[in-house]
This record gives sequence, C-alpha cells and structure tokens, in this order.
Amino acid sequence: MKVIIYMSMTANGYIARRDGNTKFILGASDRDFRKVMSKARANLVGAGTYRKTLANGNFPYKGLNVVMTRKPIKSRWKNVIFTDKGPEKALKFFEEAGCRTVMVGGGRMNSLFMRKGLVDELYINIEPSIFTDGIRIFDGQDFEAKLKLVGARRLSKNEMQLHYKVLR
Ligand SMILES: NC(=O)c1ccc[n+]([C@@H]2O[C@H](COP(=O)([O-])OP(=O)(O)OC[C@H]3O[C@@H](n4cnc5c(N)ncnc54)[C@H](OP(=O)(O)O)[C@@H]3O)[C@@H](O)[C@H]2O)c1
Repeated sequence: MKVIIYMSMTANGYIARRDGNTKFILGASDRDFRKVMSKARANLVGAGTYRKTLANGNFPYKGLNVVMTRKPIKSRWKNVIFTDKGPEKALKFFEEAGCRTVMVGGGRMNSLFMRKGLVDELYINIEPSIFTDGIRIFDGQDFEAKLKLVGARRLSKNEMQLHYKVLR
C-alpha cells in the first residue's frame, strides 16, 4: 500500500491561513487533487483538516475516511472512522479495506507521518501566493528526509506540481 501526501501550498510553504482558509488554492490544483482522491478513495486526515473540510462541505470523500483525533467523536457516516490509536493503526484500517493508495493530509499529520517514515510519495503543488501567517506544510514535530524528484509539471499557467519519492 502506497502512502501519499498531496498538498497545495504557497510559494513559501503554507497550506492554509491561520484560520484554516485555503482560498489561495487555484482551480487546476483543486481539480487535480479531486482526481487523485477519487482514484484512491482513501482519505486519512487529522482533526484540523476534518473540521475544515466538513465546514466547506467536502467531507467525507467517497471511499474510506479515517480521522485522527484524541477527542471522542461519534461517526454519523458509515465510511468514516475516528481514531486516537496513532498513525500505524490508522493506516491499518486502509490495509484491511484493501486500499492501494492512501492520501494523508494536514500540517501536523504531514510531520507526524514523515517523522515516522510512513510516507512513500509527495505531490506538492506550488500556488502563486505568499503569506506569512498560517499553517505550514510540515507543522509541529521536527524531522529530516531525503527525496528523489520523479516528476515536475505545469498544472496551469500559474501552478507547478512537484512529485517526489521519499528515500529510505
Ligand atoms: N493546502 C492543502 O493542500 C491542504 C491539505 C490538507 C489540509 N489543509 C489545511 O490544513 C489545516 C489543518 O492542519 P493542522 O495542522 O491544523 O491539523 P491536522 O494535521 O489536520 O490535524 C491535527 C489534529 O490531529 C489530531 N492528532 C494529531 N496527532 C494525533 C495522534 N497521534 N493521535 C490522534 N490524533 C492526533 C489532533 O486532533 P484533536 O485536537 O482533535 O485531538 C490534532 O489537533 C486545515 O486548515 C486544512 O484546510 C490544507
């Protein structure tokens, strides 16, 4: 099973404004994300991302959704699992469901999964904006990683996508 982080960020590495607003993400990036997600049908997010996508009316995605939170939340959907059991256990739900690709997302989630060496690939879309008060693509815990660039393409006139493999 392949674990992917797919993020759209500002040119200086922010994935959302401090209040969670992601309106800086342009259409091509958004469409590409939906395409990849609809193929994977496997969405693993932190509670921060869950709350934001729920408020935007985009949650849950089709397929299996797992939300990591330490707060007890009862699921009102058949395809959503809330868990406080940590990243490895969260991935197990997808393995057991036979998923081939899992999309992990959220500033703190990204750091947590990278730090534990659980991520195989990164897709990073660079949006034509800069702001300096917001949520970083890797937030919270420190880690280091070596990457191999496996692709770079223009998503639109103003947006680039970088595709990396995480080297072990
Ligand atoms: N631009 C993009 O492509 C993109 C993609 C995804 C998300 N986003 C944005 O990123 C923002 C959210 O990022 P974020 O860093 O604030 O939040 P996040 O990473 O989505 O979630 C963090 C939360 O996950 C829970 N958590 C963390 N570690 C855990 C563990 N070991 N076990 C169980 N639960 C754990 C905690 O929730 P509790 O406090 O409930 O315990 C924590 O507050 C949103 O605004 C979203 O829109 C942007």
